Amino acid sequence: KKVVLAYSGGVDTSVCIPYLKHEWGIEEVITLAADLGQGDELEPIRQKALDSGASVSLVGDVQEEFVRDYAFPSIQANALYENRYPLTTALARPLIAKILVDAAAEYGADAVAHGCTGKGNDQVRFDVAIAALNPELKVLAPAREWGMSREQTIAYGEKYGIPSPVKKSSPYSIDRNLLGRSIEAGILEDAWTEPPEEIYLITKAIADTPDQPAYVEIGFERGLPVSLNGKALPPLQLVTQLNTIAGDHGVGRIDMVENRLVGIKSREIYEAPAMLVLIHAHRDLESLTLTADLAQYKRGIEETYGKMIYNGLWYSPLKAALDAFIQSSQERVTGTVRVKFFKGNATIVGRQSAKSLYDEGLATYTESDEFDHKAAEGFIYVWGLPTRVWSQKLRG
Ligand code: ARG
Ligand code: SIN
Repeated sequence: KKVVLAYSGGVDTSVCIPYLKHEWGIEEVITLAADLGQGDELEPIRQKALDSGASVSLVGDVQEEFVRDYAFPSIQANALYENRYPLTTALARPLIAKILVDAAAEYGADAVAHGCTGKGNDQVRFDVAIAALNPELKVLAPAREWGMSREQTIAYGEKYGIPSPVKKSSPYSIDRNLLGRSIEAGILEDAWTEPPEEIYLITKAIADTPDQPAYVEIGFERGLPVSLNGKALPPLQLVTQLNTIAGDHGVGRIDMVENRLVGIKSREIYEAPAMLVLIHAHRDLESLTLTADLAQYKRGIEETYGKMIYNGLWYSPLKAALDAFIQSSQERVTGTVRVKFFKGNATIVGRQSAKSLYDEGLATYTESDEFDHKAAEGFIYVWGLPTRVWSQKLRG
């Protein structure tokens, strides 16, 4: 029996290795660490897996794929869970699932494994994505079943030569990738408590932000971000640079209580500067380039799309159909949005597009007005007719 385990280098996934072998009789554990730009050094993690008993330790740099194939389509969809969370953690799961399934095929494994607990969304995302990609593969989730406390987990690991964490481990549960950070647990579990400044890493406190605003022009092509300040950038560099600029100006923090798929409300803190700014700017460019009815209809699609990413349905027929709609809607979404960063705000102060539907001749209040004012009268008569009839009947 051979298993490919999604590996992060942390205590829980490390303990999964001996646990799978000694408690569940797995003969061979192959670990796979995905580099999603979480800022960890991958070589020590690769070595740690071997030291913890993995037979093969794989590392995959999937940063570019992550931005191009997961984050960017989600920007085109303006996907925000419950109107606020840009899905920075959720988007990584289908990609990790994909490389797990690929590795299982390459190494002839019968199962894949992950270290998620039974309370969260991540387990659902992994299990369902893996089932979609290869329904024959078994998914093992030791941490969902072992019922060990933090201390017991560390003690179990020590028995098999897994060093206990050197620094006192953080009271928070943090998921990080190049799109941002998700922080929960510790004192944050009290929804009334203001998050302490120490939890933030990539966004500055307002007090520490520059006293001069920064302006950034974001270029889009068919709804995809392609340049900053006129300089063409590949997706990964664009997101990385925008994270720095926005984060420096204190943009990108979210503090919310969200509804997990498993029914639990949880208090979550996010830092997601670039994703928030890109969605904000993209939506603004859509207001210039989409017809009113398409933009309005798309809102409903966007909400469903965001919910599907959150709920682990990235690989599903409905999601694929919505993707087709969204791609088609992006045909004209080409242009530039001007964003002003200042003291925690990212304000859109201008937009332009060769595909703009905005017509100054129609909009203007000056004498170059081309709108036929008299045409409004007949329109209003017809538009208001049902209301007029209703009111007349009401009065008998
Ligand atoms: N609540 C967020 C989500 O469901 C973040 C989850 C963070 N995961 C973690 N293992 N800390 O996408
Ligand atoms: C987990 O249980 O793995 C973290 C929380 C979540 O997935 O939502």
